[in-house]
Amino acid sequence: MRKTIIAGNWKMNKNIAEALELVKDLKIKLEGVADTEVVVCPPFLAVNAVSQLLKGSNIKVGAQNCYFEKKGAFTGEVSPAMLKEAGCAYVILGHSERRQYFKETNDFINKKVKAVLAEGLLPIICAGETLEEREKNIWKEVIKTQITGCLAGFTKEEVSKMVLAYEPVWAIGTGKVASKEQAQEVHKFIRDLVEKLYDKPVAEALRIQYGGSVKPDNVSILMNEPDIDGALVGGAALEADSFVKLVKFEKK
Ligand code: PGA
Repeated sequence: MRKTIIAGNWKMNKNIAEALELVKDLKIKLEGVADTEVVVCPPFLAVNAVSQLLKGSNIKVGAQNCYFEKKGAFTGEVSPAMLKEAGCAYVILGHSERRQYFKETNDFINKKVKAVLAEGLLPIICAGETLEEREKNIWKEVIKTQITGCLAGFTKEEVSKMVLAYEPVWAIGTGKVASKEQAQEVHKFIRDLVEKLYDKPVAEALRIQYGGSVKPDNVSILMNEPDIDGALVGGAALEADSFVKLVKFEKK
């Protein structure tokens, strides 16, 4: 049985004071939630303060990116070890905004996944097609290339622990959520692909989140699909009340 994982990707929102205000609220309102894993991913500068506040709680902390080198002359970068020390358990890698604005490639993301695992952290690896790619009906090739590239060279044990996130680019921040049929189709495609690349137990263990305009009024419909194991949430994770509703979605 895969444990549902709901993660908030705050992107470049909230300063330290605002971040603490939000997690103070979440800590109280999500106390006792045990059947769903909850993760918040603040901007780098707030990671440490948020981790301190959440110590001993049921909410984990993630970062939104990192670099793959351990240390050295890489101006402006942050290593997995630094994130671990600051209290992170997860790192989001290969988000479409990083692929689009910062030209991240699958090979580059693969190196980061390796570095993150080597530090004992877990990656949330994002993949997803653009609107044009969906309209041209080439989403399978696109996602296959992304997943195969990002997952190259890992052991079965490592892949079993990973979290993948299917995030159709056309659904991110647009209010245009994928239908449950569309999302389930891609999630099943990804799981079958992982089975081909590794094996069935690995594919069955690995969790696949959906991301892209997940809101309190559509979360339950999506989360009850058999291959959707959680959500990676942007906009609706920025307010305590909506994020709490997402975490406490109705299970059917
Ligand atoms: P959104 O973002 O929920 O605001 O669409 C999701 C994401 O980019 O992870």
